Amino acid sequence: MITKKLQDAINEQINAELWSAYLYLSMSMDAEAKGLKGVANWMYVQWLEEQDHARILSEYLNSQNAHVQLKPIAKVQTMWKDIDEMFRDTLRHEQEVTKSIHELTILAWHEKDLPTISRLQWFIDEQVEEENSAQDIIDDIEQVGSDGIGLYLLDTQLAERSYHKADALQ
Ligand code: FEO
Repeated sequence: MITKKLQDAINEQINAELWSAYLYLSMSMDAEAKGLKGVANWMYVQWLEEQDHARILSEYLNSQNAHVQLKPIAKVQTMWKDIDEMFRDTLRHEQEVTKSIHELTILAWHEKDLPTISRLQWFIDEQVEEENSAQDIIDDIEQVGSDGIGLYLLDTQLAERSYHKADALQ
């Protein structure tokens, strides 16, 4: 049986994942407004993936006979100066999420909750990917710039990203 303290912490993480989803939807809408369809697509996929993260944690709490408690989602920024600022914010945000996943896992260790530790391993691995993909795009922006033909090429590349439903049991 999962402890109340851990349940509460996972419910906080569900809220953080939904806030992440909302943040990326906001970035996607801003990119659309700027005419950057590829960036908008990349952020839209991100919005879908963050909802998967919230779903996986919710399903886990349900499987443990615990109560999922959805909380209000705080407001998000709605405009960014350019894609350099947008992707640097993305990386910074993912680093914060990594920190909270690690803290959650450490709490699960303190609670000696092996099933929760096992489930959180998927999120630890996912965060390595999340940070890497944001960093890769920042590296690309440093190479090609965030305007003109460089921006056009990068936007074309980001249009290729597609969504695949995440499953923590795979
Ligand atoms: Fe759910 Fe991007 O971390």
